[in-house]
Amino acid sequence: MTSERWDELLRQDHEVTERVFAAMEARFASAAGPSPAQVMRLVRYLQDYVDRCHNQKEEQHLFPRLERAGMPRDAGPLGVMLHEHRQAEQILASLVPLGRAFAAGDRSVLPDLRAAFEAYAALCKDHFWKEGDILYPAALRMLTDAEGEEIVRGIDALEASLGEGTRERYYRMAQEIIEEGELRDLAYGLERDVLAAILNTLPVELSFIDHEDRVRYFSHEHGEKIFPRSRGAIGMEVQNCHPQKSLHLVNRIIADFKAGTRDVAEFWIDMGERKVHIRYWPVRSPDGRYLGTLETVQDVAAIRALAGERRLLDAAA
Ligand SMILES: [Fe+2]
Ligand SMILES: [Fe+2]
Repeated sequence: MTSERWDELLRQDHEVTERVFAAMEARFASAAGPSPAQVMRLVRYLQDYVDRCHNQKEEQHLFPRLERAGMPRDAGPLGVMLHEHRQAEQILASLVPLGRAFAAGDRSVLPDLRAAFEAYAALCKDHFWKEGDILYPAALRMLTDAEGEEIVRGIDALEASLGEGTRERYYRMAQEIIEEGELRDLAYGLERDVLAAILNTLPVELSFIDHEDRVRYFSHEHGEKIFPRSRGAIGMEVQNCHPQKSLHLVNRIIADFKAGTRDVAEFWIDMGERKVHIRYWPVRSPDGRYLGTLETVQDVAAIRALAGERRLLDAAA
């Protein structure tokens, strides 16, 4: 038999579900919105676990014992709890088809889906609070230890009737929803080819070497470049694609970036009409980890020649 008490098991369900709600709220509020896979998991978690498992643990095993111990079914806390379970079912009945439509690719349902989700989450959060702060403490006072153990056995049996490892399975699903719901950079909302096109549109040539000094990326592959690069460089160690005479500089810059003692290294050189500004930047993760070095190369001659102001669209364009 499960070693936790019945109220601990039910509270754990509430906590996991509240974290799912928080993750989904953040995701619905983000520019990218939730992914179809995340919404599908949410639908399954709410329908199969919260509604058909968690609420049934209470309705089949907790509430009848409270009724027998003298708590009226149709009034007071028990009546309110049952009424709220029915309300939750009603909201879920509209949320599930919206979620399935969204998961199947219909983004037009997003506002309705979000509204249904928010109504469901608001009802449940209030309900969980009432149970946790009022109903469960009252129940613990009313029920004997033996009755408490019967409830745990009932919970175990109900979960077992839904398949082996039911709780672990749904907690894993909840964890997947939570992890995907963590707010990520806005770039995650872009398609890869859009992101690539944006990088190729920058008026700056980019090259990136990773934390192991290997060339991983350069932009403007098919355009005219100040420093042409070929695909053969990808995967090479940066030390092998730099002239010997500047190697000590490259190594010094990278070492400083890795050590966190430098935030930029810059050079400028003349190439005919061009004034070429070359800069190296450490690329760090949001938590400060060194991910690699970015080189930006830009002809700044035209920028340096700017004088006065232009506030109107030029006719030649
Ligand atoms: Fe409940
Ligand atoms: Fe509950």
